[in-house]
Amino acid sequence: MFKENFLWGGATAANQLEGAYDRDGKGLSVADVMPGGKIRFQVLGSETFDWTLDQEKYIYPNHRGIEHYDRFKEDIALFAEMGFKCYRFSIAWTRIFPKGDELVPNQAGLEFYDALIDECLKYKIEPVITISHYEMPLHLAKEYGGWKNRQLIDFYERFAKTVLERYHSKVKYWMTFNEINSAFHFPALSQGMVKSNGGGEFKNILQGWHHQFVASSKAVKIGHDLDPSLQIGCMILYATTYSMDANPINQVASMIQNQAFNYYCADVQIRGKYPAFTERLLKEHNIEWADLDITEEDLELIAEHTVDYIGFSYYMSAAVNETATEEDNVEGNLLGGVRNPFLEASEWGWQIDPKGLRIALNELYNRYQKPVFIVENGLGAIDKVDENGYVEDDYRIDYLRRHIEAMAEAVADGVDLMGYTPWGCIDLVSASTGEMSKRYGFIYVDLDDEGHGTLNRSKKKSFDWYKRVIETNGKEL
Ligand code: BG6
Repeated sequence: MFKENFLWGGATAANQLEGAYDRDGKGLSVADVMPGGKIRFQVLGSETFDWTLDQEKYIYPNHRGIEHYDRFKEDIALFAEMGFKCYRFSIAWTRIFPKGDELVPNQAGLEFYDALIDECLKYKIEPVITISHYEMPLHLAKEYGGWKNRQLIDFYERFAKTVLERYHSKVKYWMTFNEINSAFHFPALSQGMVKSNGGGEFKNILQGWHHQFVASSKAVKIGHDLDPSLQIGCMILYATTYSMDANPINQVASMIQNQAFNYYCADVQIRGKYPAFTERLLKEHNIEWADLDITEEDLELIAEHTVDYIGFSYYMSAAVNETATEEDNVEGNLLGGVRNPFLEASEWGWQIDPKGLRIALNELYNRYQKPVFIVENGLGAIDKVDENGYVEDDYRIDYLRRHIEAMAEAVADGVDLMGYTPWGCIDLVSASTGEMSKRYGFIYVDLDDEGHGTLNRSKKKSFDWYKRVIETNGKEL
């Protein structure tokens, strides 16, 4: 079944759990100005949003997170108790370079990650680091216009070099950018671009990606020069994409969506060249290749420094129906699309599809022939907690069990699967809504959407269940 050294663990991101948003020299990040609650995307998508903090009007849940910054030892001890082999977390860019364009890193920020990494190693938990997860310095978004600006490559390179040089002897697994393709729908999070600074234009998103591809290759080069055995991956938001029926019109439409969303970024980072469908994709948006600033030198770098493995998140699948009406659309599904009558959805409308994970694993592995790593998966749900902090989260166990079964099927299909790190192994702030009530964890955190609570940690039913899964290397589910 799963390999002997299979990387069972959990995943988080700095901006969603650390808190301490202005402590020890940390600068403001784009996540720090994202309001909480369902208003989040409305605000970010507006023509006028210009990254200002308005504390009178909104709450900012990322400012406090779950105070992991002060409680990381307690949290990692709980991960160790579950038997984690690895822990995926990200380094907040703004702790290391508060504004992003400084020449010298912030020592206090580095010291926090020194301690965090050492705490993992104390329990023989392998750190898996995302260099940038939805939290670029706000200054780079406001003053430089986000990733559409070529200068961002240098700033990212300095950041990546700083952390790779410091940690390469302790940390083997890295990822360059979280869900790089998410900019397709949400350029604010991953490219520092909103409508008011160009995020509404696809050309800017494409330009932003190109700069990120170059930056990612530079990080891969730096890492491999330091130690060729480092494993540096990409990280794609993957949604298995179906045609709604056998109508060739829908088949073609799903093929196009699959290419544009799932494969455009992955092809460049994994194969080292732009896919054959690039020109066509650009043309459909009235963009010419020559409109983009892409140099020969960039393309060489991209070709030479491809990633070692394919990290991806998987939460849901998407169904495409060209002839659908408005009512057929499914609300909440991150990637839109139509309601799939064969699937149930989470309370947030994400359509649950374990079999789609088997398909995703096969599609990715067979297309690229590189090891795959599921670095996010899980069920965001409302938990009912009792007076002892206990949650009977059988729905979460059921979700995870069915996805692990699908993973086992994919391994039997011949897929080289490295590991599995379910999202939000400890409850944290939701990226899309800023809510605490959208919980994923094995560990409950006493904190509500308005920021009230003791922040006490307690074990849910899924805690012991996942512990047993790891103990038996996925045999007992
Ligand atoms: C992924 C992100 O999109 O999904 C995470 O990498 C995010 O940052 C996770 O938290 C779950 O999404 P949400 O919106 O439920 O927090």
